[in-house]
Amino acid sequence: MERKNQGSTLEKVLVLDFGGQYNQLIARRVREQNVYAEIKPYNKITVEEIKNIGYKGIIFTGGPNSVYDEASPHYDPEILNAGIPVLGICYGAQLIAYMADGEICSAENSSEYGKTLFKTNESLLFNDMPKESICWMSHTDFIKTPPEGFNVIAYTDKCPCAAMSNDEKKIYAVQFHPEVTHTEYGKQVLKNFLFNICDCHGDWKMENFVEDTIKKYSEELAGKKVLLALSGGVDSSVAAVLLHKAIGTNLTCVFVDHGLLRKDEGDFVEKTFRGQFGMNLIRVNAEDRFLGKLKGVTDPERKRKIIGEEFIRVFEDEAKKLGKINVLVQGTIYPDVIESGKGDSAVIKSHHNVGGLPSVISFDEIVEPLRDLFKDEVRAAGIQLGIPYELVWRQPFPGPGLAVRVIGEITKEKLEILRDADAIFREEIANAKLEGVTNQYFAVLTDLRSVGVKGDARTYGYTVALRAVTTDDFMTAEWTRLPFDVLERASSRITNEVHCITRVVYDITSKPPATVEWE
Ligand code: XMP
Repeated sequence: MERKNQGSTLEKVLVLDFGGQYNQLIARRVREQNVYAEIKPYNKITVEEIKNIGYKGIIFTGGPNSVYDEASPHYDPEILNAGIPVLGICYGAQLIAYMADGEICSAENSSEYGKTLFKTNESLLFNDMPKESICWMSHTDFIKTPPEGFNVIAYTDKCPCAAMSNDEKKIYAVQFHPEVTHTEYGKQVLKNFLFNICDCHGDWKMENFVEDTIKKYSEELAGKKVLLALSGGVDSSVAAVLLHKAIGTNLTCVFVDHGLLRKDEGDFVEKTFRGQFGMNLIRVNAEDRFLGKLKGVTDPERKRKIIGEEFIRVFEDEAKKLGKINVLVQGTIYPDVIESGKGDSAVIKSHHNVGGLPSVISFDEIVEPLRDLFKDEVRAAGIQLGIPYELVWRQPFPGPGLAVRVIGEITKEKLEILRDADAIFREEIANAKLEGVTNQYFAVLTDLRSVGVKGDARTYGYTVALRAVTTDDFMTAEWTRLPFDVLERASSRITNEVHCITRVVYDITSKPPATVEWE
């Protein structure tokens, strides 16, 4: 099976990754300047390969090590003679000094952490910014003596060489982090590197990407039968519309409705893709099939496994009806590719992120139209393609859907109750215009029943939990401090409008120790 990447003749900058926590942020900051950046682990690319690819510039990331540690990542010093401009950041800066025989020192009393005033000398790297500004530092080691041929171009009270350069070789090194927003003129530093030093033109624009990708696939996939599993999530939706614009009805999208979606979600997906875009969409209403398999199951991991497997089976059954398929489309995005730790080596993201690849459908190749894009770029492409705003900015929704939000056994009745409560909560968040304040918010139907009173009668109903979290990456999350009056309105409406619910609680646990989902 052949895998097609999105090849291009774009100008590119390489972010050479030495294990820094900000590697993706650096690449995104470069792309914000309309220059395409790609991240490669330092040990997965040689100087020869770098030269052959023709990068316009290289950025060495930070990293947790000290250059003198035996286990610390090093690189071939020949890179400094490759004739390609280099910018080293933090550990990357020290590595440049080390490679070129400068002197690095480690001293607790010289360490700097946080916002720091730094002063600059004349340098192309610091064009169009004041001589004194705030930068973000996070280091113990520092460059004590720059290597021969290098000049100090910035310093702080504690750090005699906060930045250095060899202008002739176009090699620059900064001890601070230009990529974080705490560095006042960080954007300007990167801009200066890209445009003054690397001579980039800034041709990485979303409208170009969309146009080029449509053109490329309309040629490459002409006459081929292409299949895509559409979940209604951002990635598969954008991939679907891109491919649809390229090949029209040769693309078939299969939307497996497992009956575990939120209120009216299935209809919305169908209306958008078949109605608005006129796509060749097959909606499979498989609720009974899934609920049948889930009957009596209470263990969260078993629920996930059953749903993943059943999803593949339903998808396969539909695909088989279509006859020979040439191409399967995957919604893999750039962080999936890098997080595999393999740079550009391929990762197969399961098309429903709970299952795997179908095994009984045969196809000749996989196409991943979004594999070069970060999530915010996928969203920008979605907007460019005219996908509705509410879909492009949709909050994350787990593949197993409401199955992991109904605690204990799943029944149709419980799903209905949860859907209604969840819809009210989301409506109240929208009414209060809080969608931008919290990153994910939903209701959970607990398996706890409690006594209540409605009118004069005693009731014995379900307890619903509301959850809202604030997070950058979903690896850690804070519970969102929603205003009490919003919680009050949601609680009052849920207990009034949804039968069987007698109690509403708000989850005030962060992650860790809790996870975002309850199961
Ligand atoms: P947790 O619960 O692990 O969730 O803190 C972190 C993020 O991942 C989502 N999530 C899932 N997404 N399949 C998915 O596609 C799953 O099985 C799954 N479990 C959790 C969750 O909604 C949150 O955004």
